Amino acid sequence: MAEGADVFLIMATMRAMRRLKPDPVPDDLIVKILRAGQCAASGGNTQRWRFLVIKDPEIKKRVQVYYQRAFDEVVSPRYQRSAPPPGVTAERYQRQHAAVEYLTEHFAEAPVWIVACLEDGANPNRSSGSSIYPAVQNMLLAARALGLGATLTTRHLLYEKETEEALGIPSGFHSYAILPIGYPMGHFGPVGRGPVAEIVYLDHWGEPYPALAGESRA
Ligand SMILES: Cc1cc2nc3c(=O)[nH]c(=O)nc-3n(C[C@H](O)[C@H](O)[C@H](O)COP(=O)(O)O)c2cc1C
Repeated sequence: MAEGADVFLIMATMRAMRRLKPDPVPDDLIVKILRAGQCAASGGNTQRWRFLVIKDPEIKKRVQVYYQRAFDEVVSPRYQRSAPPPGVTAERYQRQHAAVEYLTEHFAEAPVWIVACLEDGANPNRSSGSSIYPAVQNMLLAARALGLGATLTTRHLLYEKETEEALGIPSGFHSYAILPIGYPMGHFGPVGRGPVAEIVYLDHWGEPYPALAGESRA
C-alpha cells in the first residue's frame, strides 16, 4: 500500500511539524486539505464552519506579534517549569521546546495558514469545539498524507480579541485553530506517547483492559 494511503501510518507519524520551508504550497493541495476538512462530522451536520486561508504576509505578521507575546508570557515559562509528558524523554521535550520557539519566531513565514472558524454564537460553550476539531484533525491528516507539515495551534487565543480582529473574523464567529502549513524541513517520524494500557479501562474506571495486558503500565 502506498504510504499516503495508510491512515494508521499517517496517524502514527503525524508529528507537529514546526520547521517549515517558505516555499509556496500549490493551491490544488490546499484545496485537497480543505475538502478533507469539510468531510468531517459536525453536530447535527450543521456545518457552521468557515476555513480562512491566509497567505497575506501582513496579516500573518500582525497575528504573530500576539503569538510571540503569548509565548514569552505564558508558554516558555510553562515549558521551563514542567516535566516531560508520558512517552517523552527530557531530551525530546527540550527539542520540542526549541521547535515551539522556532515556530513562534517564524510563524508568519509559513506559506499558508488555515484558520478554522465556527459560527458559535454569542456564548460558545465547552461543546462548541466538538463541531470544528474533527475538521481540524482531518486537515492535519490530509496535510500529512500529502507530505506537507502542519501544526495544530491555538495559542493565539490567549489574545483572542486582538488576533481575531487582525484576521477580520466577524461577530458570531470565532477561531478555534490556526494551522501553519508548508513543506517540512525535517522528516516525519513516530509521535511520542505513553503506553496505551495506562489510559484504557474496561467497564470500571481503573480496571485494566486485558487486550492490552502485554503492554507496560508504569
Ligand atoms: C489544543 C492544542 C493546541 C495546540 N497549540 C499549539 C500551539 O499553539 N503551538 C504549537 O507549537 N503547538 C501546539 N499544539 C501542538 C502540540 O504541542 C503537539 O501536538 C504536542 O507537542 C505533541 O507533539 P507531536 O504531535 O509532535 O507528538 C497544540 C496541540 C493541541 C491539541
